[in-house]
Amino acid sequence: MSDAPDAPDAGPAGAQDAEATRQQLLAGWAVSGDADLDASLRPRRLADFVGQPRVSEQLRLVLEGARARATPPDHLLFAGPPGLGKTSLAAIVAAELGVDLRATSGPALERPGDLAAILTNLESGDVLFVDEIHRLPRAVEEVLYPAMEDFHIDIVVGKGPGARSLRLSLPGFTLIGATTRTGLIAGPLRDRFGFTGRLELYEPDQLEAILARSAQLLGVEAAADGLAAIAGRSRGTPRIANRLLRRVRDYAEVRADGRVTAAVADDALSLFEVDHRGLDRLDRRVLTALCDSFAGGPVGLATLAVGVGEEPDTLAETVEPFLIQQGLLARTPRGRTATVASFGHLGLAVPPGRGEAAVQPKLDT
Ligand SMILES: Nc1ncnc2c1ncn2[C@@H]1O[C@H](COP(=O)(O)OP(=O)(O)O)[C@@H](O)[C@H]1O
Ligand SMILES: [Mg+2]
Repeated sequence: MSDAPDAPDAGPAGAQDAEATRQQLLAGWAVSGDADLDASLRPRRLADFVGQPRVSEQLRLVLEGARARATPPDHLLFAGPPGLGKTSLAAIVAAELGVDLRATSGPALERPGDLAAILTNLESGDVLFVDEIHRLPRAVEEVLYPAMEDFHIDIVVGKGPGARSLRLSLPGFTLIGATTRTGLIAGPLRDRFGFTGRLELYEPDQLEAILARSAQLLGVEAAADGLAAIAGRSRGTPRIANRLLRRVRDYAEVRADGRVTAAVADDALSLFEVDHRGLDRLDRRVLTALCDSFAGGPVGLATLAVGVGEEPDTLAETVEPFLIQQGLLARTPRGRTATVASFGHLGLAVPPGRGEAAVQPKLDT
């Protein structure tokens, strides 16, 4: 399949300096140069897709049901932070069904006609993948509703009093949407998906399994403890794990004998300022602002973002999920708060009267 689906994943545009490069290395967003890496390491079948046991099992059931009935499966939505496997799953669904994947993205579909052109060119049973579907313009979204529900679109022919609406029927197809922000998807659109797979950050042992496969595909000689060292510092994100593997390989080739060991991985990752718990500089800046400047919170996302000079979206989509998973930050109705562990991680004293944050909130807002 083409690499196009990853282009809109490129996330917040970054500056060109070394710090930006480092930040990009450690963010889950696809950046330039990732297309090849993602394509070569992307799992092709559900059996190669590591982790996410619940989503995998549910998806397997949806696909088997559809196969048994010989109809296209329901429309599917994959949600979760960047780099967790949404695009990979879309390609896997098409491969498992033995149909073609047509890929586009929310921001690429500017006018209703852009989507109509794609829809009318689908073959029966095709999978249409719309990345960043929360960024579809409203007018385009409206074309999608009848297409998803009844497999037809209405187009207006002519102008003025003579204009009339023409109904075109479409072949049965499956829409797969991917989003980093389910909260931004309009209710009527969300309701038209028959299945939503919420991807969670990966556990270190799952990332190790992914890294072992990647090392083999890339021809990198790696010891188990070397892969474990990378896995533990990949922010729960396969894309980051694969990226770090390549940087550690560089380090191993230039400064050691080429073999990825724990010692080599530790040295290489220190060079990129990833700490023992996998926090990078931006993570630590956010934590420090929260614990220090805002006295542990609660503080609103926008205020916290200004405090660290980042976009609120970057914080919400790539920084917070990992900090929440690590128990270092909590989202509460009143704002973001630090936990006892956050102060501990920064080596700061816990201010008197601060217990553990009570609310463990949902990842996607
Ligand atoms: N479950 C998984 N098993 C193996 N590799 C994975 C998995 N999820 C993601 N990857 C790797 O991470 C890369 C990024 O995944 P991708 O599907 O592009 O993420 P997303 O679309 O959610 O940003 C893929 O190319 C693949 O190499
Ligand atoms: Mg993607």
